[in-house]
Amino acid sequence: MAKLQDKVAVITGGASGIGAAAARLFAAEGAKVVIVDLNEDKGMAFEADLKALNLPVQFIKANITNEEEVENIFKQTVESFGKVDIVFNNAGIGRVHPSHDLHYSEWRQTVNVDLDGVFLVARESIREMLKTGGGTIVNTASMYGFVGSPGSAAYNAAKGGVINLTRSLALEYAEQNIRINALCPGFIDTPIIPEESKQALVAATPVKRLGKAEEMAKAVLFLASDDSSFMTGSSLTVDGGYTAQ
Ligand SMILES: NC(=O)c1ccc[n+]([C@@H]2O[C@H](COP(=O)([O-])OP(=O)(O)OC[C@H]3O[C@@H](n4cnc5c(N)ncnc54)[C@H](O)[C@@H]3O)[C@@H](O)[C@H]2O)c1
Repeated sequence: MAKLQDKVAVITGGASGIGAAAARLFAAEGAKVVIVDLNEDKGMAFEADLKALNLPVQFIKANITNEEEVENIFKQTVESFGKVDIVFNNAGIGRVHPSHDLHYSEWRQTVNVDLDGVFLVARESIREMLKTGGGTIVNTASMYGFVGSPGSAAYNAAKGGVINLTRSLALEYAEQNIRINALCPGFIDTPIIPEESKQALVAATPVKRLGKAEEMAKAVLFLASDDSSFMTGSSLTVDGGYTAQ
C-alpha cells in the first residue's frame, strides 16, 4: 500500500528543487498535495504538470513571511481537502556575502524567511493538527545548522535556529501526537546552488558529487510517514558525508 494514502500534505517551497521532488514523491505515494510557493509562474506550471498525470494537487501562491498569507494556506487546504496531516516546511533562501559588509536588511531578510517563516508555518500547522488529533511536520534546516562556513552567517544562524526550534516544538507537542523533525541536507543540485560554485562543492563532499533533490525527497517521506513513528525532535543529516569530516 502507498505510504501516504489519503493523507493531505502541504509543501512550502514546493515549486522547485527539494520541495518539488517531495511533491512528486508524496503524490505518487497517495497524498493530496498542496504546493505553496512565492514563485507563481513556476508553481502554476508545476501544478499543471502534476494535474496532467491525474495527481490531486493544488498550487497556492504565498509568502511564508506573511502571517495572513500563511493562515490562508491552511484555510484553503482545509476547504479543498478537509484536513492537514503532513507539512513539509521547506521554503528557504540562501546567499553568500562577507559578514563585515552584510547590510542589516539582508541579514533580516534571510532570517525572516529561513527562521521566522518556518516558525509561522509550523505554528499554523500545529493549530490545524491540534484540531484533528495529530500529524507530522518536517522542517528543512541544513548541515549548516550544525557546522559553520564563511560568508553565510545569517543563513547558518537561521538554520541552527530551525534545528532547535524543531526540538522545542517536538517536546511541546509530543503528547498531542504531532511529530516534528528536521531534514539537514548537504549540497544538493537545485537552483539555490549557483552553477559556478558546483565544482568546489563537489570537491568538498566526501562522496564527490552533489546530492539529488529526489534523494532528499526519500528522506522527507521517511520523516513524514509512519516509517519514522518513534522519531520526534530529531535532525536527519543527509549530506554525502560532509559533516562526518
Ligand atoms: N540545495 C541545497 O544545497 C540545500 C542545502 C541545505 C538546505 N537547503 C534548504 O532546502 C530548502 C529548499 O531549497 P532548494 O535547494 O530546493 O532551493 P530552491 O531555490 O530550488 O527552492 C526553494 C523554493 O522556496 C521558494 N521560496 C523562497 N522564499 C519563499 C517565501 N518567502 N515564501 C514562499 N516560498 C519561498 C522559492 O521560490 C523556491 O521555489 C531551503 O530551505 C534550503 O535552505 C538546500
